[in-house]
Amino acid sequence: MSFAIAIDGPAAAGKGTISKAVAAHYGFAHLDTGLLYRAVGAKVRDGADPVEAAKALVAEDLDAAGLRTAEVAQAASRVAVNADVRAALVDFQRAFARRAGGAVLDGRDIGTVICPEAEAKLFVTASAEVRAARRYRELLERGADVTPEEVLADVRERDARDTDRAEAPMRPAEDATLIDTSAMSIEDAIAAAIAAVNARREET
Ligand code: DC
Repeated sequence: MSFAIAIDGPAAAGKGTISKAVAAHYGFAHLDTGLLYRAVGAKVRDGADPVEAAKALVAEDLDAAGLRTAEVAQAASRVAVNADVRAALVDFQRAFARRAGGAVLDGRDIGTVICPEAEAKLFVTASAEVRAARRYRELLERGADVTPEEVLADVRERDARDTDRAEAPMRPAEDATLIDTSAMSIEDAIAAAIAAVNARREET
C-alpha cells in the first residue's frame, strides 16, 4: 500500500528535519527533492547543460560531496526555474511517492505539482529572519566564513526566486496544513507534523 506525505516550504524552515523524523516515525522512505536540484545545479556550475544534466541524473549523484553549500543552493534555485529541468525530474519523484510502504517527499512543489493527490500535505514555514538565524548557526558550525546579513540576503533572494518563478512556484497546496516553526522547538514542530499526518490518516 502506498501513502504519500508531501512536505513543502522555504529553505531552513525545518522541513528537512521534520521530514526525516516523520519518515522514521511511520517507517516510510524519505526523498529530499532539493537534492535533485542541487545535484543538477552543481553539474551546471561545473559546465554541464542544465537539461542534459537533469535527464542524466542518477541516484548516486545525490550522494555527491558539497551539495549542501550556499553556493550550490543558489545554483539549484537558478536551474529550478527551467521548465525542462523540472520536467526531467518529475517521473523519478512521482515513482518515489507511489512506492509501496509509504513515502515522505520534501521540496517546494510536492503538494501542488508532483503529488497533488498525496494523502497528507504540510507546508512548513518560518519568518525569513528566524530561518536566516538558523542557517547562519549551521554554517558557522561547518566553519563557513559568512555574516548574518549575507545569510539573510541569501535566504530572501532564494525565497523570491522560488516563489516568483512561473513554473511550479513555491506555495502551499490548498489543502495543506500550515506549520509555522518560527516560535517552535524542533520537537514541537515534529509533534505538530505527526499530529497533522495522523489526522489525515484517520480520514483516509
Ligand atoms: O530544499 P533545498 O534548499 O535543498 O532546495 C534547493 C533549491 O532547489 C531551492 O531553492 C529551489 C529548488 N527546489 C525546487 O525548485 N523544487 C523542489 N521540490 C525542491 C527544491
